[in-house]
Amino acid sequence: MTQELTSPSPAPQAPGTGRGPGWWRDAVIYQVYVRSFADSDGDGIGDLRGARERLPYLKDLGVDAVWLTPFYASPQADGGYDVADYRAVDPLFGTLQDADELIRAAHDLGLRVIVDIVPNHTSDRHPWFQDPELARQRYLFRPGKGESGELPPNDWESVFGGPAWTRTDRGDWYLHLFAPEQPDLNWDNPEVHAEFEAIMRFWLDLGVDGFRVDVAHGMIKAPGLPDIGHGAQAQLIGAQVLPFFDQDGVHAIHRAWRRLLDGYGDARGKQVIGVAEAWAPTAERLALYVRPDELHQAFNFQFLNAPWQSDALRSVIDASLAATASVGAPTTWVLSNHDVVRHTTRLGGSLARARAATLLMLALPGSAYLYQGEELGLPEVTDLPDEVRQDPAFFRGGRATGAVGPGTDTESAPDGAAGGQDGFRDGCRVPLPWSGELPPYGFGPGGSWLPQPADWGGLTVAAQTGDPASTLELYRAALELRRRLPGLGDGPMSWAPAPDGVLAFTRPGLLCTVNTLGHDVGLPAPGTPLLSSAPVTVDDATAQLPGDSCTWWAI
Ligand code: NOJ
Repeated sequence: MTQELTSPSPAPQAPGTGRGPGWWRDAVIYQVYVRSFADSDGDGIGDLRGARERLPYLKDLGVDAVWLTPFYASPQADGGYDVADYRAVDPLFGTLQDADELIRAAHDLGLRVIVDIVPNHTSDRHPWFQDPELARQRYLFRPGKGESGELPPNDWESVFGGPAWTRTDRGDWYLHLFAPEQPDLNWDNPEVHAEFEAIMRFWLDLGVDGFRVDVAHGMIKAPGLPDIGHGAQAQLIGAQVLPFFDQDGVHAIHRAWRRLLDGYGDARGKQVIGVAEAWAPTAERLALYVRPDELHQAFNFQFLNAPWQSDALRSVIDASLAATASVGAPTTWVLSNHDVVRHTTRLGGSLARARAATLLMLALPGSAYLYQGEELGLPEVTDLPDEVRQDPAFFRGGRATGAVGPGTDTESAPDGAAGGQDGFRDGCRVPLPWSGELPPYGFGPGGSWLPQPADWGGLTVAAQTGDPASTLELYRAALELRRRLPGLGDGPMSWAPAPDGVLAFTRPGLLCTVNTLGHDVGLPAPGTPLLSSAPVTVDDATAQLPGDSCTWWAI
């Protein structure tokens, strides 16, 4: 069936086998945060039917695949990352039939579909956790410390704030690295392995093309669950190996899943993939998740986290490419997602930088993920009233975005814009504006679960369509060129000489310049401008690169 899907790679798949160059190596994958994408029934919450109706928009945008965030049965304690039934669709989002129809409609348009899988924890409403006998075997229960077990078993903190342990009325404690409603599974139990393999097969049978693996670095905990002895653990996430994150044992799980994915795909002549959401302290440790016998992709959060400075960008790009090349994998670039401050805001509240950063990302070798709304240049919403907030971290007095996502670029945002409102995650999850002058801007026939700003009328899809200066048309043009020019996507790149503050690199037939400074920089015109994030001028063979801009040149 994948044979019918369009591939961004010029090389076709070998007939009759799922192995080949690998469609994911340079795919552009669009993240649909289902709750905020499009609402078909007027309850103010996006749903699968709404997403299906908008698939032609994504096809027209020029992406290769969509990643759908969790739509499974869930009490929604953490936006659906608390799953009560991995094989059922939550009524908020529709039915299994809606999921089936969405997958089919995407395939009919030549779009692949990736869904989330959440293996580190379930909802506390999951039948396993509800049954005390099963729960004891399949989750991480421990006796407390102190005279009567009144103290948590160790000093681990929840990513969302507070202790990572909750005491049951039976007196023992269970581990939850996230909210108390998200108990951690016991991956020493083979039944847990078997269940997740069965869940994957269930969705593969429904036709999905891969999985985004939530907390892919978390399933295995250090033996004995040792104390960390550090009071601010959230700051250590992604900075060092912790007894609960990036333990070497997780790789055996990924190897088993790769065997499953390859076996499933090979039998059907398609390639199904896994993408790791993994926080690893270095590019080298992240690359371990994409060794040839592990997952296919891992989000490059170090790139997302880089400040808007040419030296810092260059070193993160070099480190990422070197690390992934050492294992033969592509790099998977990303600038925004549902856990971090939108990059328009994070990069100093500058749409110019956001547009330039996107063109830079799309010119780099490898695959890229886009987060819904970034193609509209949406900023983070920074004035949400407390009563509409839903991020569990907000209620647990936990950390800002850095705890569950990357830190923020405070250096290039002296006005504090980098942290958004206060770093929590609702401000990047506000429903999309599609059309019209007033909320809900065509999001659906009702309202929207988070209020949309009153001044988004000019940012809607309808308002930007056909306006060559709009961010939407910039994304469309970039994705169209990426498909058309064989030098983009997977393949070689080399740095070219450039003045301070400017990056220049070549891809086959193409040169990309990025001016990270806030003012124009002149340089000998390297070729003919193909696409630029801001108007570039060429006079007498001298090019003026506008401040905070990126340009693709035909050479
Ligand atoms: C990462 C997800 O992206 C985030 O939204 C969620 O809160 C945590 N994992 C826990 O599942």
